[in-house]
Amino acid sequence: MTNPFRADFPLLKELDIAFLDSAATSQRPVSVIEAEKHYYERYNANPLRGFYDLAQEATQRYEEAREAVRAFLNAAGAEEIIFTRNTTESINLVAYSWALSHLRPGDEMLITISEHHSNILPWQMAAERTGAKLRYVFCREDGSYDPADVENAFTDKVRLAAAGYVSNVTGQLGPVRQMTELVHRNGGVMLVDAAQAAPHMPLDVQLMDADFLAFSGHKLLAPMGIGVLYGKKALLSDMPPFLRGGEMIDSVRQQDATFAELPHCFEAGTVNGAGAEGLRAAIGYLNGAGFEQVEALELALTEQALSGLSALPHVRVIGGKTAGEHHGILAFLVEGVHPHDVSAILNDDRVAVRAGHHCAQPLHTYLGIRSSTRASIAFYNTPEDIARFLESVSSIRRKMGLG
Ligand SMILES: Cc1ncc(COP(=O)(O)O)c(C=O)c1O
Repeated sequence: MTNPFRADFPLLKELDIAFLDSAATSQRPVSVIEAEKHYYERYNANPLRGFYDLAQEATQRYEEAREAVRAFLNAAGAEEIIFTRNTTESINLVAYSWALSHLRPGDEMLITISEHHSNILPWQMAAERTGAKLRYVFCREDGSYDPADVENAFTDKVRLAAAGYVSNVTGQLGPVRQMTELVHRNGGVMLVDAAQAAPHMPLDVQLMDADFLAFSGHKLLAPMGIGVLYGKKALLSDMPPFLRGGEMIDSVRQQDATFAELPHCFEAGTVNGAGAEGLRAAIGYLNGAGFEQVEALELALTEQALSGLSALPHVRVIGGKTAGEHHGILAFLVEGVHPHDVSAILNDDRVAVRAGHHCAQPLHTYLGIRSSTRASIAFYNTPEDIARFLESVSSIRRKMGLG
């Protein structure tokens, strides 16, 4: 069966490449590229500023994009959607704004050991500045979480919990639901890092009862430089601004200022109107494709890749034994070969994967690994991509002179 989506991705038509690095950034369909181009050709003016027709249209497009994100996440209101640059900025916003103004010495923050550095370093900063303690809940060897370990890691001092919905190394689901329930019992807040989940599965922030949720447009078919922070209105309303300057004010005097209403008080400076337009087109594309189909295609490709890797001697896949646990992410080790060499050999065979610690050094250290190679799959990949990848992996030890 030919992939019904692949032809929509110009780069994949242009280059003979098995692109297996979508967890780092996805490829873009032509509709997203065109939407951004069309924005500059037809709507370009500074959104939220001018009163002339063109500026009003730019503002309207920007707010329509916000509404598209609201619907995508099933948030209760569009004022709960804040545009940022990426997941990293979204999490920093919560750390600088919520954590610094709400945490006290003796409070605790609980995160999982699987987190991306973007969901660790902001909390380290908050710990340093508030005197709160940063603590971890640890995973099993396959990257999954034992509910008893999560329960035991909780104390009544935990005021903030944060977890990735999907790990960018093991692909395992984080204990998001359980942590949300437990932190709410303390009257605390839950932040969900959905960077690796949003491109692959439907998310409903009301169902999840997440207090904050972050994702990046660029991993979800959208342009680079546009990201999202969802926050419950009651919480956002009680938070000081993160960045200060133009567009986020109500009125300014020489020594002080009052701030705009939500969500604009969190969007200081000129916003990324073209990026928002691209994100809206990306959401439109994904809605058209349908997550059911996206998930089915990705699962079949992951099954092919996982069973192929598992059959190779000297190859060890990090994480669960079944494809369903990986959510398209397959980090692996080739015995005796450094991941950088693995990636270089794959590159010679025109297969693009990532090598290193994938911005998850504490997890690698905990699992007793320095680094790994990661193949990550999207719905626009094909069985031929996976076959080329497996063929190349199977040749690595021979090429390195290891037989
Ligand atoms: C789980 C997770 N969180 C956060 C990030 C950071 O995303 P960004 O670099 O777009 O801010 C990534 C990116 O790889 C990720 O995989």
